Amino acid sequence: MRIVVMVSGSGTNLQAVLDAVREGRIDVEIAAVGADKPCTGLERARQAGVETFLVRPGDHPDRTRWNRALQEAVAARQPDRIVFAGFMRIVDAEFVEAFAGRIVNTHPSLLPSFPGAHAVRDALAHGVKVTGVTVHEVVADVDAGPILAQAAVPVEDGDTEDELHERIKAAERELLVRTLGATARRGALHDAR
Ligand code: GRF
Repeated sequence: MRIVVMVSGSGTNLQAVLDAVREGRIDVEIAAVGADKPCTGLERARQAGVETFLVRPGDHPDRTRWNRALQEAVAARQPDRIVFAGFMRIVDAEFVEAFAGRIVNTHPSLLPSFPGAHAVRDALAHGVKVTGVTVHEVVADVDAGPILAQAAVPVEDGDTEDELHERIKAAERELLVRTLGATARRGALHDAR
């Protein structure tokens, strides 16, 4: 299965996928890694010899034209699947439609609890004792697509947001690789539930 991975930050989820591909643990080919800004994730891709591309919002007159440029850059790589791994931008409905059923996102909470960009902070603030990670299909509504896999992660007394997020990310990396491996042989994601 040929994938494009989108990142925005440290890229540790991407690194887990790069390692799994290199070690032959999943039947996946990473066609390219894209980002909305220069970031460590792109460096990790370059280190692994994987093609990268950058589509910055600031290079486009408005968000719609950024979405179209991103859609073109992704489509040009002819992926079977697009993986948002710490990609911190919201794509529009036309982007989702162009790759319907083929976009996966990983989110650091047990959706539908704590959607949005501050899931770890929100879970901690709410005082939950268990949180976790969700791998789901991306649909037009943010963090609302069909759930493909989840893993629970305990909240320890005194956890800071970073400590909790690191514990979540350890589970997230494993779940993302496992889910990509399990769905590598299927077509659209909804067959995978
Ligand atoms: C991940 O926990 C992801 O779910 C969230 O931000 C984190 C990105 O981590 N959106 P990395 O860039 O993969 O290290």
